[in-house]
Amino acid sequence: MQRHSAFKDSNKQRRNFLKKIGAGLTASVATPLLARVPDAPIPNSELLLSPISSPDEAYWEMVKKQFVIPEGRIMVNAANLCPSPHFVNERVAALARDLAGDVSFQSRAKLGVGRTEAMEQLAGYLNVPLKTIGITRNTSESNNIVVNGLDFQSRDEVLIWEQNHPTNHIAWQQRARRYGFRVKIFKLPADPANPEELLNTIAAAIGPQTRLIAFSHISNVSGLALPAKAICQLARERNIMSLVDGAQSFGFIDLDLQDMGCDFYTGSTHKWLMGPMENGVLYVREERMDQIWPNIIAAGWSEDHQTLDEKVCVLGQRNTPSTPAIADILSFHQTIGKANIEKRVRELNTYLKGQLREKLPQTEFVTPLAPELSGGVTIISLPGQDSRELFSQLYEQYGIAAAPTGGVRLCPHIYCTLEDVDKVVQALVELST
Ligand SMILES: Cc1ncc(COP(=O)(O)O)c(C=O)c1O
Repeated sequence: MQRHSAFKDSNKQRRNFLKKIGAGLTASVATPLLARVPDAPIPNSELLLSPISSPDEAYWEMVKKQFVIPEGRIMVNAANLCPSPHFVNERVAALARDLAGDVSFQSRAKLGVGRTEAMEQLAGYLNVPLKTIGITRNTSESNNIVVNGLDFQSRDEVLIWEQNHPTNHIAWQQRARRYGFRVKIFKLPADPANPEELLNTIAAAIGPQTRLIAFSHISNVSGLALPAKAICQLARERNIMSLVDGAQSFGFIDLDLQDMGCDFYTGSTHKWLMGPMENGVLYVREERMDQIWPNIIAAGWSEDHQTLDEKVCVLGQRNTPSTPAIADILSFHQTIGKANIEKRVRELNTYLKGQLREKLPQTEFVTPLAPELSGGVTIISLPGQDSRELFSQLYEQYGIAAAPTGGVRLCPHIYCTLEDVDKVVQALVELST
């Protein structure tokens, strides 16, 4: 299979990125897209200049300093929205300033170049051909492009997980009501013994008319992680399509979509990828591309278009200064290492769960404790305490940004240290006494 060359020379990508962050320490380095490089110094970024095999706590402290999170604030809200490293913010801001001063077609051509670079990097990051990738505005839009783009007949059945996000749940039900196909909702055990139990439950829910299985890779309301590769394989064996909503895995899990074997995958850049804002990713397996009708026809769309981005992501005027920065954040991921990022997020969550069990033994875990059944999302409740109230108190009294979804939802990411996790646990202990 033909892959795009963007990640073929991964060292070159990494060198370019190091050149950019190094620029923050010294003087200006010309880049093709920026009118000027960021002024703000990047603290301790020399640590990022060394190859990393096993990053230690000092390394993660330094990674945290690449973000502009104010003193006294702890962001454990990655499932909803993530902060971006400051060089990503600067890139977007510089491009926005440039656009504000010159909106000519000639000047904006460089934003198109930046978008193409972002697409190339994305294809490499996900290990799929460039033509199968599209940049949308968010996961919601990507999910809806699939839901509204496929044709189903009246006897066809779409199988969806009860915990799917509304954009992969209500969206299917609305579509089915309008066009007359069936939607079957399956439930999964809240605390399964192992991933096989989940797979077997899904296998039992498949019927002779099932045409597609749509599920969240990791649930935003329970934190349960599904064995996506095994589910996609099961679906393929039965000639069923698979849609994986990756809002809670894109940017955290060391993904390889060819290996996963899904037909459709969706995600948002403003969640675990850590920016930039308002971009979504849509992957459609090459053989399925002809089965998707466009949801939106905007100027520039053509019947002759061949790539997914041209077919379904021509959506009218976009927030163009945001998209090129996808290339920057992906270089950041590559420099740290995709595997290191996944390992660190898992380490933070395992540590969080362990500390809660030790310091606050009454904690009830909505999310399974086993790493193979969970990811970066940890949801808890405390007996006799209102989760929404706890969520408010965490922010108002301790500067801790969590979410009131499914309980108290805590999602530490690489800009959090183990010390931050200790502070979250300590805050919950104090709020419980
Ligand atoms: C599983 C899942 N899918 C889709 C979405 C929607 O993401 P966005 O608002 O970026 O479109 C979310 C948001 O939390 C989510 O958790």
